[in-house]
Amino acid sequence: MKKYILDLFVTENIRLHDRYVLLKLTSKTILPEILPGQFAEIRVDGSPTTFLRRPISINYVDRQKNEVWFLIQLVGDGTKHLGEAKKGNCINVVLPLGNGFTMPQKPSEDLLLIGGGVGIAPLLYLGEQLVEKGSKPTFLLGARSGNDLLQLTDFAQYGELYITTEDGSLGEKGYVTQHSILNKRKYKKIYTCGPKPMMMAVAKYAKSKGIDCEVSLENTMACGIGACLCCVENTIEGHLCVCKEGPVFNINKLLWQI
Ligand SMILES: Cc1cc2nc3c(=O)[nH]c(=O)nc-3n(C[C@H](O)[C@H](O)[C@H](O)COP(=O)(O)OP(=O)(O)OC[C@H]3O[C@@H](n4cnc5c(N)ncnc54)[C@H](O)[C@@H]3O)c2cc1C
Ligand code: FES
Repeated sequence: MKKYILDLFVTENIRLHDRYVLLKLTSKTILPEILPGQFAEIRVDGSPTTFLRRPISINYVDRQKNEVWFLIQLVGDGTKHLGEAKKGNCINVVLPLGNGFTMPQKPSEDLLLIGGGVGIAPLLYLGEQLVEKGSKPTFLLGARSGNDLLQLTDFAQYGELYITTEDGSLGEKGYVTQHSILNKRKYKKIYTCGPKPMMMAVAKYAKSKGIDCEVSLENTMACGIGACLCCVENTIEGHLCVCKEGPVFNINKLLWQI
């Protein structure tokens, strides 16, 4: 897919939590085709310590408003600068990067989208696109506590929503892989994004039940276009750049010891 370097403009910067912002950006031209699971490399202006662009998932694309959304966890200098963007500010992005999630060949009601922490970000757009194509996804989202679960009303628009928190403050107490829904229903496909240990646990569960499963990896990236080799993952096809060949991989392709 063709990639674009675009100057986008902040329409809203919503502080969802002390550590998370939702940045909504618009373009003066019509935004290009963007698939769920793809990401952008965002230039960080004004930070003396952030030289490289930061990879951030496409959270949602609002075609009516010609907006692309990014859900950003403020972890270091780069993301903190992005979090300070004001309405009208210009932010330069390269998008769409990587390969997205595989959409089902025909509409399905047996799709489970499992997200953890800020890894829920790409699943909102995936959920919306699945619904658009006639599927009925189920979401299972997990976090340390209820405060860390974001965009729940947005997710609930697109399917059944189940929740786990480690401290039990919202939904069932425990990890996503311990949620009771997994014992009650058999899904045909799982899509997941989140911390690596969570994705490995989800992949292990999927493998044990014979469920097809795709994971979206967040290996550390620099160029985002397959040039610097800093994001490689060991796969059955050798070392592959996550930015170019992923970030979405079928678990059968990965050499995870699960
Ligand atoms: C494909 C992909 C999609 C992502 N989507 C999102 C998203 O939707 N929302 C979100 O909040 N975060 C997302 N991330 C993680 C985000 O890129 C990092 O949190 C961000 O780059 C940290 O930058 P920083 O300057 O704030 O922090 P730094 O001070 O540079 O580092 C803080 C932490 O972030 C990690 N990190 C630093 N640079 C990178 C990098 N270039 N790539 C990956 N990790 C890095 C470091 O290991 C460290 O643990 C994604 C990462 C990838 C690879
Ligand atoms: S980030 Fe440079 S090759 Fe993937």
